[in-house]
Amino acid sequence: MVSALASRGVEAIAELIVKSRKAVALTGAGISTESGIPDFRGPQGLWKRVDPKIGTIEFFMEHPDEFWRFQLDRLKEMMKAKPNRAHYALAELEKMGKLSAVITQNVDGLHLKAGSKNVIEIHGNLRTAVCIRCKRVIPIEEALRLIESGVFPPKCEKCGSLLKTGSILFNEPIPEEALTRSYIEAETCDFMMAIGTSLQVYPAAYLPVLAKRRGAKLAIINMEPTPLDDIADVVVHGKVGDVLESVLKLVKNMVEGRGQRA
Ligand code: APR
Ligand code: ZN
Repeated sequence: MVSALASRGVEAIAELIVKSRKAVALTGAGISTESGIPDFRGPQGLWKRVDPKIGTIEFFMEHPDEFWRFQLDRLKEMMKAKPNRAHYALAELEKMGKLSAVITQNVDGLHLKAGSKNVIEIHGNLRTAVCIRCKRVIPIEEALRLIESGVFPPKCEKCGSLLKTGSILFNEPIPEEALTRSYIEAETCDFMMAIGTSLQVYPAAYLPVLAKRRGAKLAIINMEPTPLDDIADVVVHGKVGDVLESVLKLVKNMVEGRGQRA
């Protein structure tokens, strides 16, 4: 259930989606908490229990074994996770031609599992592992097989160097293609929804600013306030599953209503 206050925001978002020429979503860890994957900075956030330095490229280079032990726990969590109502609502909006892209900071692959097609994973993903020297990319299952056979931390079978998960670590550059695509989406959309993200990590947090500068409307759907609430046209503080399910229902009503009048 969304609150009375939130329901005005939900209506505004549904109207903006229907009116927009090109709507895009920027998602963060908050969209996956309802799938059982903890976020980083929310009340139960991972960085409240674990020192975030474990997520840096420097930590990985110095302590690859500890890094892999930490990643294996997250991998297990993500492999069994299923998309939730929020992921499915975005996939459905795309199918209806009402959402052109999902830019996600998440590495859990749940947007793709929910059926979204145009997904830009700016922080990479956990479906793959990559050799830090020869850059060979392998399915994560191959890295897991190496670990099972006793190679720990896992090493590249071609050149013997360390394997890293395909997710981007702090202080690592964002993959160029994903970054370019997400800038293009932000510059060419006329409506952006930031969903379940604390908007504290760059360059992701810059995308809504860029979209606003180019004249797009901005909606923020998040449980807690974010630093960009002040520049947003609509802010809804609520649970992403409730909010997006209500938005989808309204958009469907509006689109069908319009069809009947035509
Ligand atoms: N509904 C709405 N909002 C939620 C929900 C929910 N069910 N669950 C959590 N949230 C909100 C939290 O209140 C928080 O503000 O989602 C936000 C998640 O913020 P972060 O944990 O900071 O996640 P994110 O913005 O994706 O982090 C960016 O930081 O550590 C890195 O690489 C990691 O990609 C990640 C990046
Ligand atoms: Zn290699």
